[in-house]
Amino acid sequence: MKESIIVDTQNKKSVISRDIYGHFSEHLGHCIYGGFWVGKDSDIPNIHGYNKAVVEAFKELDIPNLRWPGGCFADEYHWKDGIGPQENRKKMINTHWGGLTEDNSFGTHEFMGLCDELGCKPYICGNVGSGSVQEMNEWIEYMTFSGVSPMADLRAKNGRKEPWKLPYFGVGNENWGCGGNMRPEFYADLYRRFQTYVRQYGDNKIFKIAGGANVDDYNWTEVLMRNAHWLMDGLSLHYYSYEYRWEEKKPATGFSKEGFYRIMRNALRMEELVRRHSEIMDKYDPDKRIAMVVDEWGNWFAPKPGTNPGFLEQDNSVTDALVAGITLNIFNNHSDRIRVANLAQAVNVLQAPVLTQGDKIVLTPTWHVLHQYKGHQGATLLGTSAAYSYCGVKDVPDYNRSLRGIEAKEDVIVPGLSVSASEKDADSKSGAKKQYLVTVTNVDAESSKEVEISFANLDGSIKSANASIVTGEKYDTINSFENPEVVTEKTLAVKITGSNTVCISLPAHSVAAVTVLA
Ligand code: AHR
Repeated sequence: MKESIIVDTQNKKSVISRDIYGHFSEHLGHCIYGGFWVGKDSDIPNIHGYNKAVVEAFKELDIPNLRWPGGCFADEYHWKDGIGPQENRKKMINTHWGGLTEDNSFGTHEFMGLCDELGCKPYICGNVGSGSVQEMNEWIEYMTFSGVSPMADLRAKNGRKEPWKLPYFGVGNENWGCGGNMRPEFYADLYRRFQTYVRQYGDNKIFKIAGGANVDDYNWTEVLMRNAHWLMDGLSLHYYSYEYRWEEKKPATGFSKEGFYRIMRNALRMEELVRRHSEIMDKYDPDKRIAMVVDEWGNWFAPKPGTNPGFLEQDNSVTDALVAGITLNIFNNHSDRIRVANLAQAVNVLQAPVLTQGDKIVLTPTWHVLHQYKGHQGATLLGTSAAYSYCGVKDVPDYNRSLRGIEAKEDVIVPGLSVSASEKDADSKSGAKKQYLVTVTNVDAESSKEVEISFANLDGSIKSANASIVTGEKYDTINSFENPEVVTEKTLAVKITGSNTVCISLPAHSVAAVTVLA
């Protein structure tokens, strides 16, 4: 059976914010230390202490923003410990992540310098859980005030006269959990108070992000919106996909077909979460002024054997590529509400696009999907519809009910395709008016799919088409330090079959990006 996708070229929707393609760097394991930051005296090729190869890998993705310093770490981080001469910086315990000593050698100046190197916007998350209003207020003054003031003077003393631009600031992280175990009513009041002192200095306009819900905690969204919607620019949402059950994580590779489909089903759940949280936001903000900020998403598997469990290291396979493809299609399709998102995490942690080991670097299957999708950044979303077959496994143990002691079976069946499409003006040299990018995932574990893509209401006809594919021999094939280029972006044949149609053959478990000029 041929699967079919229709892209309606006249159904122009929201602009896909570039910031949906953001990343997240926490003081966790080797994300910062040994990841982005190797230090100025390192033998590893570096630019002012930043790993050169890592910086280049993210520049190649057109990284739009980077979130820092956490995560859970943010609500224990005291920014003044990370400024001034290195030898004077206070040491602390990184209680969440391995109980290691954090020497604060990477602080505000180092992070802002990293964003400059990457050419991306900084997104800083402040400390509500264990910090004070004054501390947050002074951090904003330190970073963004240009006149004479105690914090601006301190910044100049530490070598930086000019203020930085700070576009995004999060008022706490996961304040329902590691950020203070608060009830939504209590956090909503704290948000109102803390954000008051996140001042707007000069022409720096800070987009204030309130700490949002965990997964399907719709009450959290309801309470935050009811009590503070007029004081926020964004409200966050965190959701991680996994194989088995959250409380009992399974390895990132070696899972069965049943495990594979469970991961696909869990990733596809993002659609429902976004829709239901959006419905609540719509009640208080029908014009969608407030952005949904999915500032932590990705796969969370069991730690790689032999690694510190607090470092959250895991392999990254074709399955991760699929989860990235599915999730980014969901974000694109909801870009009227989702305007910022951050994959967790950028380097060496969870679903990382980049892995490092000394001076070696691996671009994971996830990196290759981000590369395929980067053309969506800033493009206009188009309406799509698709007719596809379903795939999955039948009659397998139902883990959720067995948790409650009930012997039960279930079918894990998922839609075979996921898609999003966008349009940009074509490069004038091409002779075409528009450039279309259609990204498609085939989540079928075993079968390839013949897919016809029609461009409805096209002004003119297709002039040229090309496509790329990310897949591997198996759904858990990885790129390792020994074999770093097993899963890469390869050319996929695309046939122009009519004035407004193209056809591709999508291998099992694959992500395709089709570019059409018309
Ligand atoms: O990304 C790892 C952790 O997951 C973050 O620190 C926290 O915010 C979330 O629970």
